[in-house]
Amino acid sequence: MSRPRVFVARKLPGPAVERLAQTLEVAVWPGPLPPPREALLKEAAQSEGLLTLLTDRVDVALLDAAPRLRAVSNMAVGYDNIDVQACTARRIAVGNTPGVLTETTADFTFALLLAAARRVVEADAWVRAGRWRTWDPSLLLGQDVFGATLGIIGFGLIGQAVAKRARGFGMRVLTTTRGDRTQEAAALGAEQVPLSQLLAQSDFVSLHVPLGEQTHHLISGTELARMKRTAFLINTSRGPVVDPAALNEALRAGTLRGAALDVTDPEPIPPGDPLLEAPNLLIAPHIGSASEATRSRMAQMAADNLLAALNGQRPPHCVNPELYGG
Ligand code: GLV
Repeated sequence: MSRPRVFVARKLPGPAVERLAQTLEVAVWPGPLPPPREALLKEAAQSEGLLTLLTDRVDVALLDAAPRLRAVSNMAVGYDNIDVQACTARRIAVGNTPGVLTETTADFTFALLLAAARRVVEADAWVRAGRWRTWDPSLLLGQDVFGATLGIIGFGLIGQAVAKRARGFGMRVLTTTRGDRTQEAAALGAEQVPLSQLLAQSDFVSLHVPLGEQTHHLISGTELARMKRTAFLINTSRGPVVDPAALNEALRAGTLRGAALDVTDPEPIPPGDPLLEAPNLLIAPHIGSASEATRSRMAQMAADNLLAALNGQRPPHCVNPELYGG
């Protein structure tokens, strides 16, 4: 019997592809950039399984072109790039990689928060530009993190891991009453408040919601206007959770002290995008989960999900478990 064929949409860190190749026929996209749409469709048409990244769109058109497809395994915790409903309707299992990236992403959230508050990137550029002439009492003054108020929007695993770190910094932590995370919030000493109150009282607002209809432009002009002029917005979730035009306006008008983004809309942000010229903005290229160990674990987990689904078993991390009776 021929082995099921899977397409892996990029070279992956660690031994995940080798593991797949022990039992499956594996094709790996060789380029450093995502497969162009046409190539992805062509590969999907010949495959039983896909190992996708968040850059690969799995929509109805792709599924229609892929009659043999039985599993899509996304190497990410977020899966807004996948039409899960359409997959479920075709009995295609969808997997993701929760848990393994929680602490790494929370670390990076704090890295952005601290770097923005204490102007780390600007300071480095200052020194390299040969501008360090003396210890200056007024040089590069930032904002204190210790003792400040942090508003966490989205209190899932990553939001909670950020709250844990915030406790070490003596921060008051607010989260919204929108989510159903009362016990988790209480355990971490986070106060649940309405979104408007969180925005008005926080010195830092950090986003940890998945992207969906409910959260698209969750932070737009109205929400930014509610934030303190001295506050910072940190986004390590998905770019479209923030309205980029409104953020640009707030930064330029000085109604927001700063922002640190690991995600943008569109992504990657094109050179010449007006947001790149906004003051007090720090941007990273979507590297929240990018530690060597974590990326290797994510790849392994994505491989495990794919192997299980193609074996007729429920993937260990399945986002449409109803295919297996819930
Ligand atoms: C990264 O953004 C992920 O969803 O894992």
